Amino acid sequence: MALGVSLALSFSCAPAALASRASVAAIAPTPPMGWSSWYKFGCGINEALFQQTARALVSTGMSAIGYRYVNIDDCWMARQRSPSGALQPNPREFPDGISGLAAYVHARGLKLGIYLDTGSATCTGFPGSAGHLGQDIPTLAAWKIDYVKADYCRSRPAPAKPIYTRLQQAISATGRPMLLNICEWGYQNPWEWGAGIGSTWRTTGDYFSYGAPRDYWKAILKVLDLNAPLASFAHPGAWNDPNAMLIGTGALTATEERSQLSLWSILAAPLIAGGDLTKLSRSTLAVLKNRDVVTVDQDPAGEQGTRLVRDSVHQVWLRPLAGGSHALLLLNSSSRSATLTANLAKLGLPLRSVYLVRDLWTHRLYRSTGTISGRVGPHDVLMVKIAA
Ligand code: GLA
Repeated sequence: MALGVSLALSFSCAPAALASRASVAAIAPTPPMGWSSWYKFGCGINEALFQQTARALVSTGMSAIGYRYVNIDDCWMARQRSPSGALQPNPREFPDGISGLAAYVHARGLKLGIYLDTGSATCTGFPGSAGHLGQDIPTLAAWKIDYVKADYCRSRPAPAKPIYTRLQQAISATGRPMLLNICEWGYQNPWEWGAGIGSTWRTTGDYFSYGAPRDYWKAILKVLDLNAPLASFAHPGAWNDPNAMLIGTGALTATEERSQLSLWSILAAPLIAGGDLTKLSRSTLAVLKNRDVVTVDQDPAGEQGTRLVRDSVHQVWLRPLAGGSHALLLLNSSSRSATLTANLAKLGLPLRSVYLVRDLWTHRLYRSTGTISGRVGPHDVLMVKIAA
C-alpha cells in the first residue's frame, strides 16, 4: 500500500518536479546575501528589530552591494497554532503580523526570510511543521515570504530527502518563488541530493558543535575542514551553506571577521551577516562592504574554491572565476604571524612570465612573476585575484 502510494506520487509529480528543478535553480544564480537574527539575537526578536535592520541594510549601503534578505530565525511564532491550525506570529512581538513586516521590507527593495522546522517542534520548542507543510507553506506564501529556512530539529530519524522534496513541492504549488534553505546540518549528505530541492543546504552543525563559544576561531577552522571536500557539489542555483557568518555579532576579532568573509567567498557560500546592523563598527562595516571580496563570492561561474594546502600553520585556497581569472587565498590559521607563499604555476595556473594581481583587501594592483607571498598575521588572510 505504502509503496503503491509513493509510486503513484513519483509518477504524477515527475513533470512538476522537473519544472521545479529549473525554477529552484533560478532563485539563487549566485549565493544569497543578507542578514539573520539568530547568532546575535536568538529568541530576543520582534518586529522593530527587523524593521530597523531593513532600514540599516539600506542606510549602510549594504543592500546596494547585495545584502537583501532579512531573515527571521527561530522564535517568531506564537506558542500555539491558530484555531484553524495555521502558524501565527507572537502577537505581542509582531503586532503588524508577518505580512505587515513583509510589506515594510519589500518597500525598501529587500526580501523577507522566515524559519520553520520540519519536525514536531522547532529547536526552541515552537510549533513544528511535521504534518502541516500543506498548510504552512501556503501561509508563508500568502504573507509574501521570499526565503524559507527549514530546520530539522525533532525530525530524526526520518530521512531528510523526502521531507525536503515534499516541502519544495509545496513551495512550487504556491506559485511564489521562495528560496528554500535545507537546514539538516549535513547529517544525510544534503549536497548529494539538495540541488533542485533547495537553493542552499547547511553542510554543518552550529558553531557550538565545534568549540564555540569558547573558541569561535576553532569552530570556523572545523567548518572549513568539513566544507573543503564539498566543492564539486556547488553550482549556480545550488550552494553549500557553511552557516551564517559571525561577522558583526561580536564573536570574532576584526581580523577574523575579514578572514571569515574571505573564506566564505572562496567557498561560494551564502553571505548572511549577523549582529546589530544599527551599531556596526566602522571596521565590521568595511569588511562586509568589501566589494572586491563580495564579487568573488558572487562570481557568475559559481564554482566553489578548493583547498590545495593545509598544514598546522596555513591553508591555500583557489577559486576559478568566470573568464579565466582566479581568486587565491592564503590563510594563517595559527596564532603567530607567518610568511606565507604560494607558487602560481605549482597551483596549476597557466605558466606565464608575468601575472596581474590585485590584493582584495589593500586593493593594490601589482605584477608578479608567479610567487605570491606576504607576512600574514594570526588568523588573517592574504587574498588576491589573478587576472586571466
Ligand atoms: C538550529 C539551526 C540554527 C538556528 C537554531 C534556531 O540549531 O542550526 O541555525 O536556526 O536552530 O533554534
